[in-house]
Amino acid sequence: MASAHIDAATRAELRQLWDRAFGDRFSDHDADHAYGGVHVLVRAGDRLVGHASAVPRRIRFGAQPWRTVAYVEAVATDPDRQGEGIGRRSMETLQAEIATRWPVAMLSTGRATAFYEALGWERWRGRSFTETSSGVVPDGEHGGLMVLRRELSVVPDLSVDVTCEDRPGDAW
Ligand SMILES: CC(C)(COP(=O)(O)OP(=O)(O)OC[C@H]1O[C@@H](n2cnc3c(N)ncnc32)[C@H](O)[C@@H]1OP(=O)(O)O)[C@@H](O)C(=O)NCCC(=O)NCCS
Repeated sequence: MASAHIDAATRAELRQLWDRAFGDRFSDHDADHAYGGVHVLVRAGDRLVGHASAVPRRIRFGAQPWRTVAYVEAVATDPDRQGEGIGRRSMETLQAEIATRWPVAMLSTGRATAFYEALGWERWRGRSFTETSSGVVPDGEHGGLMVLRRELSVVPDLSVDVTCEDRPGDAW
């Protein structure tokens, strides 16, 4: 479902889901980052129990020209329903949507690297940077950057520098 089709009531439900799943790790900026692309929503009865979205972002791999990739955001399963396969199914559906739109996807995760590896994602091995108004700055804290390549030739080397454009909140 496109972000434009998500109504205010569903947005409020989504924020509750994210706050439950991420706790105080989830900010208003993180919520904003989840919109502007395509969403997968999973309902159990009238309850929203799963979400994943992908938004277009400009990313530069090594010395390649800037390109638009899918950036996956706000993947969450209701804590009461975790471990039942909802997260995997949300991501499989989202990845099918991504495949029709973008040749490569990226995401940043703190704790769920193994969850994404099982879905075909690879860890980024190079350094990461952010292009800000005052220049390109290293992204110090990163270890959880991941990439999903439909064709390996799109991003042949995962050890080069990767740069994103700055945004409010976490750049990556
Ligand atoms: C990560 C998350 C979305 C997984 O959702 P889920 O519905 O519980 O996942 P599934 O039941 O589909 O699990 C799929 C597989 O991933 C594994 N897995 C689930 N969460 C994991 C995690 N945090 N780290 C590593 N592996 C994980 C499961 O064990 C399962 O493995 P199996 O297929 O071998 O049994 C969910 O735990 C969550 O909402 N966490 C809090 C928010 C968060 O961290 N989101 C991702 C940040 S980018």
